[in-house]
Amino acid sequence: MSVHPDIIEFYTDAYDESDRLHRSAAGRAERLRTLELLARHLPPAPARVLDIGGGPGVHAAELAARGYRVTLLDPVPRHVDQASRHGSFTALPGDARALPQDEDSCDAALLLGPLYHLTERSDRIRALREAHRVVRPGGVIMAAVISRHAPLLDLSARGRITTDERAQELAAELAETGVNDPRSGFTVAYFHTAAELREEWRDAGLGEASLYGIEGPLWPLLVSGLVEDRDDLVATAIRTARVTEQDPEMIASSAHIMAVGRI
Ligand SMILES: C[S@@+](CC[C@H](N)C(=O)[O-])C[C@H]1O[C@@H](n2cnc3c(N)ncnc32)[C@H](O)[C@@H]1O
Repeated sequence: MSVHPDIIEFYTDAYDESDRLHRSAAGRAERLRTLELLARHLPPAPARVLDIGGGPGVHAAELAARGYRVTLLDPVPRHVDQASRHGSFTALPGDARALPQDEDSCDAALLLGPLYHLTERSDRIRALREAHRVVRPGGVIMAAVISRHAPLLDLSARGRITTDERAQELAAELAETGVNDPRSGFTVAYFHTAAELREEWRDAGLGEASLYGIEGPLWPLLVSGLVEDRDDLVATAIRTARVTEQDPEMIASSAHIMAVGRI
């Protein structure tokens, strides 16, 4: 079992993930809302948190600063290297489908990335089962996915839906299959509907997930280029996200959806 080489190459040579959650208004909204949901659902510090696919460690560093004992795993050597430089938590190479941790060895597991880089359903179920295995009874699993509708909303918000036929075709295909075509500019990826996420959660033996829209219905405005990149706008987006976060008909207006479960 190995991670698709295009994913490693994408994050190593084509894209620097380390400042994604800071450099744009949409990134900051995603980071602040993710932290808000983590603060709400994680067991209190100093709980042991396994951040699976934690990338360069933006969330891990924040949790470590809040007193959590964090271990981050990621298959991209550049990310492990960037995460290690924080110095406040352990960062190791690892794949969500085969965790090196012992059974019941953590209080919480985060999957804020791996599920959208596993295009085979069986791999996503395996990753969820692995998270289940390493979290102790009574612990928490939180997993984020990218919404199936995000690419069409993104293209529409930027006005490219009418001008960029190729992008429009790729987004329409993705809306049908969930599988991203790397010609879109992103890498090997899978985009979930809320219903699929619920079903995969159940099929992995995790019971019923609580789902939350992360960025809320204002995120298309944040990426549109129609407004300035301003922190008061991010704050408004976050307040709006809270209002609609669990409305089943509004969850898919967010770019990312968070599933939360207690075991
Ligand atoms: C968009 S980044 C998100 C990073 C971080 N969790 C965050 O929320 O900012 C997706 C991450 O998933 C990681 N990833 C991809 N496939 C994975 C797998 N099979 N197991 C674990 N992590 C994986 C990537 O290396 C990358 O760091």
